[in-house]
Amino acid sequence: MIVYTDTVDDIDASQLTGFFVDWGWPAHPTPETHLRLLQNSAEVVLAIDDETTQIVGYITAISDGVLSAYIPLLEVLQPYQGRNIGSDLVRRMLDKLQHLYMIDLLCDAGVQPFYERLGMQPATGMLIRNYNQQTGTG
Ligand SMILES: CC(C)(COP(=O)(O)OP(=O)(O)OC[C@H]1O[C@@H](n2cnc3c(N)ncnc32)[C@H](O)[C@@H]1OP(=O)(O)O)[C@@H](O)C(=O)NCCC(=O)NCCS
Repeated sequence: MIVYTDTVDDIDASQLTGFFVDWGWPAHPTPETHLRLLQNSAEVVLAIDDETTQIVGYITAISDGVLSAYIPLLEVLQPYQGRNIGSDLVRRMLDKLQHLYMIDLLCDAGVQPFYERLGMQPATGMLIRNYNQQTGTG
């Protein structure tokens, strides 16, 4: 069974294996760095397989706590995709952020229908990517 939590207090880096790989990040954070970014996020929701205690999906938000939040990361491990875990993570995060005015994220055009079904609308954005910082250790 998949269980959800919104705290990282009892999470160990060993529960965070397999992320960023299928997503195609050539250089990606280690489980320890992944845990640090979860700890530093304003809000997180984690999906845990209670049989293995492994984290199989997560979503993060950073926020000013007044008007705005940005959702930088959402991922479900490949063997667990297509089971509504990603949708559940987004719904739970949007619920946690509903007191804010702006809730933004960037995604590829192909994923827009996924977010539209969860109540979000397409927008235009801008970005910079410092690829030499992709491991999060800089
Ligand atoms: C995007 C992602 C989180 C979805 O997680 P998931 O648990 O598979 O999502 P769900 O099971 O809730 O999917 C619900 C629907 O969205 C669709 N969907 C999922 N991922 C999609 C994608 N990348 N592009 C288009 N549609 C997608 C599914 O086909 C499914 O549609 P269906 O019910 O008609 O079959 C997952 O595919 C993932 O981790 N991808 C790699 C990382 C990534 O792209 N993250 C998003 C960055 S913006």
